[in-house]
Parts: sequence; structure tokens; C-alpha cells
Amino acid sequence: MTSREALILTRQTLASANSDEAGIESELLLCHVLGISKTKLYSEPQRVLTPTEIKELQHSINRCLLHEPIAYILEHGDLYGHNFYVNHRVFIPRPETELLVKEAIDFAHHHTISQNELILADIGTGSGAIAISVALALPQAKVYAVDITAATLHVAHINCQRYHVTHQVTLLQGDLLEPLPKPVNVIIANLPYVKNHELRMLPPEIIDFEPSVALIGGEDGLNVIRQLLNQTQEKICPGGCLLLEIGYGQKEPIISLVNGHFPQGNIAIIPDLAGIERIARITL
Ligand SMILES: C[S@@+](CC[C@H](N)C(=O)[O-])C[C@H]1O[C@@H](n2cnc3c(N)ncnc32)[C@H](O)[C@@H]1O
Repeated sequence: MTSREALILTRQTLASANSDEAGIESELLLCHVLGISKTKLYSEPQRVLTPTEIKELQHSINRCLLHEPIAYILEHGDLYGHNFYVNHRVFIPRPETELLVKEAIDFAHHHTISQNELILADIGTGSGAIAISVALALPQAKVYAVDITAATLHVAHINCQRYHVTHQVTLLQGDLLEPLPKPVNVIIANLPYVKNHELRMLPPEIIDFEPSVALIGGEDGLNVIRQLLNQTQEKICPGGCLLLEIGYGQKEPIISLVNGHFPQGNIAIIPDLAGIERIARITL
């Protein structure tokens, strides 16, 4: 079988299973299995696949048909222009989280203390994508990256090595802010915020494959964020900033929670590109 024939066959198989992205996914799978770029895929259509490559392609197609996210098959997720190793132990970085990274960097640029004294913490770091993106943009700053799961931190460590930031990003295992050795200037948190009743509405790509500890936020989706707010006072410096990613319909509850904890704080809610109120920025 040539790569041209393999591409057509893969596209047809995925399309017949109602994949909306059959065209893009078939290219990605084939490039991944053959270890080549898209340019090479199209410039060498007569390249003959080895029996091992055919077997591997079939295996990848089957995983796709079972609704496994393509990011897990390719072991690759993107955030803020960087690509990160991911596996099924970690949440796949989402485009809307770029806003969280941007807000953290903007705050750091406008902060009165010098960058080499600045400390940021990414809580619920997963693949480490937020912590590493921030570290790369602010090379003088120190970044803590916390997660409750050891397997997740193993992935974050691989990504820190990939981007040569192991000296700048300190990985800590534990519950929310508890492992932080001292107060920080910026807390960034994309914690689980899916409401219990929304779980069954999630597509199989998410609910069957992504770690539940990355998703489930309790009845109103805000259980973990509520715990974080309980711990924040002691772990944030005066004049610091707390950046939270939130979900659809959580604007009012988050404002009231934050006002209860920080009556003097300023809260701004920032929408994502889809117009969903996505980030709560609390300056103290
Ligand atoms: C939605 S994922 C976000 C991952 C990553 N920050 C990103 O944006 O791609 C939430 C992460 O929070 C972690 N987490 C959940 N509860 C936690 C807790 N109590 N303390 C620390 N991390 C927690 C999960 O293991 C998961 O990695």
C-alpha cells in the first residue's frame, strides 16, 4: 500500500464513522505513524508502507474509532505556541487556557516588583503546559507547578526537560496550595470545574479518556476552586493576582465566592473567543 492509498483509506474509514475531522485526522495519523511531515506525505505519495507501518496505522485508526482523543494517539498537545508531551494520565491543554497564560504574563509585565523576584504558581498543572509557557515568557521568574497526582507530575517533568526549564519550574505534589513553601505573587489555576450533572453530557472523547480528577468539580462545579479560595489568603503576597479558569454559567457564583473571601479585591471576568466568561482575574 502506498501512502496515497493509505491516506484515502484512513480518511474514508474515519469519515464513515462520522468523524467531522476525518481529513485532518487522517493526515495527522499517517504523518505520525510514518514519522514524516505533511509536506513529505504529499510530496512522496508513492512511498510504500512497511507491514509494521500498516499494522501501526490500523491500530491508530481503531483507537480513533473508539473515540480516543487524537492528542493521546499522537502524544502531543499545544498551548501558547508550544507543543507538549501528553498521555492519558493528563488533561489535554485547551485553546481557551491560552487566555490564562496571557493574563499571567500581562500581570507580571505590569507588576512593580522586578521579574527576578517574581514568583508564580500553576495549581493543577497537568502536563505542565501553563507553568512552562509562563516560564518561557518570563525567564527571570520562578514558577511552582503543583498537582495532586504523581503520574501527572511525571509528564510535567518530561515537558520541563523538553523546554529546558527544570531550573526555573519546581514541581510539587500535593493538595492545591498546601505544598507551596512561601507566598507567591501570581496564582494561576485551571482546576476541575465540570458540574456533576454536566458529566453525562460530555462527549466520549472526554469522559471516557481524560482523567476524572481533572474534570469533576462537584454539584456546582466549584468544589475544588472553593477549597483553593479557602487556602489563598495565606499563600498570596499583598498586591498579588489570582487567575482562575471557570466554566459556562459560573460567573455569578464565582463573583460571590470571591467577594466573600476578598471583599477588598478587584474581580474582572474575561470572556473567551466563543464569548463564554472564562477567566476570573482577582487582584488583591
Ligand atoms: C483541568 S486539568 C488542567 C491541567 C492543566 N493545568 C491544563 O490547563 O492543561 C486540572 C488539573 O488539576 C489537578 N487537580 C485536581 N484536584 C487537585 C488538587 N486538589 N490539588 C492539586 N491538583 C489538583 C488534576 O490532577 C489536573 O491535572
